[in-house]
Amino acid sequence: MDFCFRSVTKFATGTIVLVLLLSCVSFDSTDAYDPLDPNGNITIKWDVISWTPDGYVAVVTMFNFQQYRHIQAPGWSLGWTWAKKEVIWSMIGGQTTEQGDCSKYKGNIPHCCKKDPTVVDLLPGTPYNQQIANCCKGGVINSWAQDPSNSASSFQISVGAAGTTNKTVRVPKNFTLKAPGPGYTCGPAKIVKPTKFVSQDGRRVTQAMMTWNVTCTYSQFLAQKTPTCCVSLSSFYNDTIVSCPTCTCGCQNNNTQSGSCVDPNSPHLASVVSGSSKNSFAPLVQCTSHMCPIRVHWHVKLNYKEYWRVKVTITNFNYRMNYSQWNLVVQHPNFDNLTEIFSFYYKPLAPYQAINDTAMLWGIKFYNDLLSQAGPLGNVQSELLFQKDKSTFTFEKGWAFPRRIYFNGDNCVMPPPDAYPYLPNAGSRSDISFLTLMITLLSSLAFFFAYA
Ligand SMILES: *[C@@H]1O[C@H](CO)[C@@H](O)[C@H](O)[C@H]1NC(C)=O
Ligand SMILES: *[C@@H]1O[C@H](CO)[C@@H](O)[C@H](O)[C@H]1NC(C)=O
Ligand SMILES: *[C@@H]1O[C@H](CO)[C@@H](O)[C@H](O)[C@H]1NC(C)=O
Ligand SMILES: *[C@@H]1O[C@H](CO)[C@@H](O)[C@H](O)[C@H]1NC(C)=O
Ligand SMILES: *[C@@H]1O[C@H](CO)[C@@H](O)[C@H](O)[C@H]1NC(C)=O
Ligand SMILES: *[C@@H]1O[C@H](CO)[C@@H](O)[C@H](O)[C@H]1NC(C)=O
Ligand SMILES: *[C@@H]1O[C@H](CO)[C@@H](O)[C@H](O)[C@H]1NC(C)=O
Ligand SMILES: *[C@@H]1O[C@H](CO)[C@@H](O)[C@H](O)[C@H]1NC(C)=O
Ligand SMILES: *[C@@H]1O[C@H](CO)[C@@H](O)[C@H](O)[C@H]1NC(C)=O
Repeated sequence: MDFCFRSVTKFATGTIVLVLLLSCVSFDSTDAYDPLDPNGNITIKWDVISWTPDGYVAVVTMFNFQQYRHIQAPGWSLGWTWAKKEVIWSMIGGQTTEQGDCSKYKGNIPHCCKKDPTVVDLLPGTPYNQQIANCCKGGVINSWAQDPSNSASSFQISVGAAGTTNKTVRVPKNFTLKAPGPGYTCGPAKIVKPTKFVSQDGRRVTQAMMTWNVTCTYSQFLAQKTPTCCVSLSSFYNDTIVSCPTCTCGCQNNNTQSGSCVDPNSPHLASVVSGSSKNSFAPLVQCTSHMCPIRVHWHVKLNYKEYWRVKVTITNFNYRMNYSQWNLVVQHPNFDNLTEIFSFYYKPLAPYQAINDTAMLWGIKFYNDLLSQAGPLGNVQSELLFQKDKSTFTFEKGWAFPRRIYFNGDNCVMPPPDAYPYLPNAGSRSDISFLTLMITLLSSLAFFFAYA
């Protein structure tokens, strides 16, 4: 994928680049590399802030540098393997999930004696004397683009049976990050220049005794998730509503798959929803043909002389989930001329400076940043106004529909291109459409890479 991208940029200009890029992009869902957020990562920084008689005290901070992927409830858990026989004497702002075998210790009992501890955040409402800055949010971390001030999480750890100088301390190994499921891969800890801390009045700078960094990246392939989201389409110029592909996220009436769902017209709805194990985070979805917890609908609503208008609706079919701080990433070539957006926040994502075709959308705090559980309130919507660029604008060949959509960082499955609503009297099926062209290019590229 990386190779694909580089060779393409060197290659050509204009539309060809765009077409090739799009096809490259669709290659890569198995790769840790995300073309829409190429530098996205979570960096974990350990700052040793003081030495103790048998070890050190460190502040561990996780920075979410991902544009649109956040960590939602039940939050992160961070694991590692100690290099020596270290123990954790105490923690502030976090805790290990297991204490392990501390039977060797008399008197002072460590917080954790496991060789491979797993740490989780504390919950909101933790007493102040057990908190530090950026802790105690139940492991929830916002994304960098959406809310940078809430994109970090910290805890303090007091480590014993460790080195007590920067020469004898051994960095922990094998970091694992669950957020909350699989998906992240963490590299080795690297010792870096000690962090400098500037006092609040800016008049004094102190520095850590020693600092190391660990970088973790996300891959949807590793997360091995079945799709959780799909896209449906409609337009003012054609009555057809193209619904989500059938069985996108599961099939109804099929007990062999995760096919259980809730009929919204069932008289027992409330008891079914509340009765089913509340603590489970597996979705409990409303019965639909696609069975996805989330559907994004894109409606091409109006055509003006200079502008055109789209209505976007996100519907929650999951009875077990309120999506707080949800976000949507949408790719469409007209985003370089977005003129107005109603009731959502908007930020352009332009990972390749020249191509400004991707936008991140999210809800307004206290208004629609919470996408409520399935039911009458379980949707949010917005309208987008685009200015037409006469040289590229067209309603033909599905141009007005999005190229790709992510909900909370997960790819939403689109209907097949030949099902898109089309203009009455527009080119017949024998026309070579943009999409056919793309598919042809894609397959020839695949051929090229397989045999080159
Ligand atoms: C992690 O992300 C930050 C911010 O985008 C970037 O500066 C840094 O180079 C990234 N680290 C790695 C190892 O990619
Ligand atoms: C350890 O400390 C010494 C002196 O305090 C410093 O010169 C050296 O660069 C430090 N090493 C590391 C890995 O931080
Ligand atoms: C780290 O993980 C790898 C693979 O899971 C394993 O082979 C290795 O022994 C682990 N190292 C430590 C120190 O646990
Ligand atoms: C280590 O991580 C911190 C926090 O993200 C960052 O400011 C620093 O530049 C990183 N250091 C290196 C060498 O990557
Ligand atoms: C049910 O699932 C099985 C296995 O996934 C599949 O072979 C079968 O065709 C499905 N049946 C229906 C009615 O969807
Ligand atoms: C979602 O939020 C509403 C209102 O705050 C609450 O009544 C409901 O129990 C929540 N649902 C879930 C699944 O957390
Ligand atoms: C992308 O287009 C939007 C909408 O016209 C504009 O506000 C933004 O500044 C552009 N960003 C870049 C990096 O060109
Ligand atoms: C659309 O945006 C591009 C890049 O931002 C700009 O060059 C072009 O003039 C705009 N077109 C219109 C019709 O505003
Ligand atoms: C609307 O689009 C569908 C394809 O989704 C097509 O089958 C139908 O003929 C179109 N309707 C008209 C009036 O062109």
